[in-house]
Amino acid sequence: MTYPYQINNIDAYREAYQKSIEHPEKFWDEIASTFVWRKKWDKVLDWNFIEPHVKWFLGGKLNITENCLDRHLATLGDKPAIIWESNDPEEHHRVLTYRDLHMKVNQFAHVLKNNGVKKGDRVCIYMGMIPELTIAVLACARVGAIHSVIFGGFSSQAIADRLYDAQAEFIVTCDGAFRGNKDIPLKNVIDDALIGCRFVKRVIVATRTRTPVSMIKGRDVWWEDEIKKVETQGNPFYEPEVMDAEDELFILYTSGSTGKPKGVVHTTGGYMVWTNYTFVNVFQYQPGQIHFCTADIGWITGHSYIVYGPLSAGATVLMFEGVPTWPDAGRFWQIVEKYKVDILYTAPTAIRSLMGFGLDYVKPYDLSSLKVLGSVGEPINEEAWWWFYRNIGKENCPIVDTWWQTETGGIMISNMAGVTPHKPAHATLPLPGVNPVLVDEQGKVIEGNAVSGNLCISQPWPGMIRTTYGDHERCRTTYFSTYPQSYFTGDGCLRDEDGNYRITGRVDDVLNVSGHRIGTAEVENALNMHNGVVESAVVGYAHDIKGQGIYAYVVYDGSHEDENLTRQDIIQTVSRVIGPIAKPDKIQFVSGLPKTRSGKIMRRILRKIAEGDTGNLGDITTLLDPGIVQEIKNGALV
Ligand code: WTA
Repeated sequence: MTYPYQINNIDAYREAYQKSIEHPEKFWDEIASTFVWRKKWDKVLDWNFIEPHVKWFLGGKLNITENCLDRHLATLGDKPAIIWESNDPEEHHRVLTYRDLHMKVNQFAHVLKNNGVKKGDRVCIYMGMIPELTIAVLACARVGAIHSVIFGGFSSQAIADRLYDAQAEFIVTCDGAFRGNKDIPLKNVIDDALIGCRFVKRVIVATRTRTPVSMIKGRDVWWEDEIKKVETQGNPFYEPEVMDAEDELFILYTSGSTGKPKGVVHTTGGYMVWTNYTFVNVFQYQPGQIHFCTADIGWITGHSYIVYGPLSAGATVLMFEGVPTWPDAGRFWQIVEKYKVDILYTAPTAIRSLMGFGLDYVKPYDLSSLKVLGSVGEPINEEAWWWFYRNIGKENCPIVDTWWQTETGGIMISNMAGVTPHKPAHATLPLPGVNPVLVDEQGKVIEGNAVSGNLCISQPWPGMIRTTYGDHERCRTTYFSTYPQSYFTGDGCLRDEDGNYRITGRVDDVLNVSGHRIGTAEVENALNMHNGVVESAVVGYAHDIKGQGIYAYVVYDGSHEDENLTRQDIIQTVSRVIGPIAKPDKIQFVSGLPKTRSGKIMRRILRKIAEGDTGNLGDITTLLDPGIVQEIKNGALV
């Protein structure tokens, strides 16, 4: 399969870009026409950013799995769709051809149906990185159910909140997951979540670790038993549910500046076209290549660049169950050598962590198969960029620094491998369809080059967020109310003298810890749930490996014999309420927080102290109790 819309030189990029901005409807009409539709759309685009109201390919009918699976069978049936590498390097890998994957998705679609799942139902998926996770995701799409994948690092409480918000009556999980030298008891975590979620009707449990699990009669069933039942029914083909282009495909929860995570909703047609188009162009994928995306499917990167983008393009994806540092820090490079990986798409935090182990873990492996490297999730610092470029790409591989968000569905600003130039630490140029604008605090558009501002997008693109689940007003206020007629990203950004974009990080109260988005308010809520914690304030600080670390200032009223023990207890509470990914790195006990007379916490001061930058804290005379600042400075953990 070749891609008629694959751009292969810079002039073609410029031409496509211009056309996409001036005539978006014509541009996307042509691209979308190369996909499989049951019925063609009546209108390409209908939008306003006031409500907001964004619809692409109106009236079009399709099933995304026909595009990811069925349409490839004739040409790619025997080619690998998924190569799965176990956590354990000794365990045999698995290969699922397009035919295998098609068959398994169809079977599991029957399983879902047999268990009562219907079009529009929400199915929560909480699994480790095994092929069954991809199968479950695609089977939901086949039957028209809305999947909501939850990352394995979230706690029972966090899962319960998400189940409740989505009113998900069905769950697909596994007994446990292997990650490095740990076994994570996923089913146990689900069981705890379900104590308060009595509306859940069915839990389908796949086996992986074969950890003992409780199986509740009438609610819990084994994946394997359900598949056996389907096998006895004969022909496994499942007639795909015909979906409207704007029918919801999935919900993915993500953190914002309030305490409550929001369910970002993506719909079928636009998301499919966007993930496919960006995959094919950014990575310059060539048929037969092996694409290794190290993200977890619990995050948007896995949804878009392990599942939907690559599979809709008939690509071979490598899915890895484990972690980069186990059994040792050579694991990624060993996998690259073993499968002759062509494209490696990973996160700066992984690069920085592996960099710290030194080149002895890189040298033994033959990395000559690599053609394209990619980075996602947070700004990549120049040092990590150069290390990646020199030692992994051997100065032969372009690095695509891909800026995007859960809300954008797919990559927005990035160079295209070998087509448009890369520049260390810069995401560089907007992809066709993306119209970035920089605005100042007052909402005035900043024109010209060599400028910086807040990043907004002024035109709709097919993969964009449609709503926040169950609360459209929240979508409007979060993204479309800060600046008129624009989608506000929450990121700060520079535009250099050549028009290249460089994302500088969040300008709202969202942290990016090891590429995971965490809201400061969310962590504060969790801290405040701990006995004895009166109040807290959370800020980020620069962390060598994680990008940002979590620094918590805590006003503690309980009696503690041992500060360290209390700290551990508080961390345990955060781990319970959100999950291990949100554990504070530092907790400083303080007797009060710097507040203005109107009671607002002055985070600017707290951020500076956490960064160790106490020389000039700015004007503190408006504080209710300026004395508190000295106390906090004296006790700072830097
Ligand atoms: C940040 C991940 C700089 C950014 C796909 C954004 C980046 C947030 C980059 C979204 C990049 C992502 N350079 N910053 N290449 N990619 N970010 O929703 O702050 O998990 O707003 O989506 O990550 O994180 P999310």
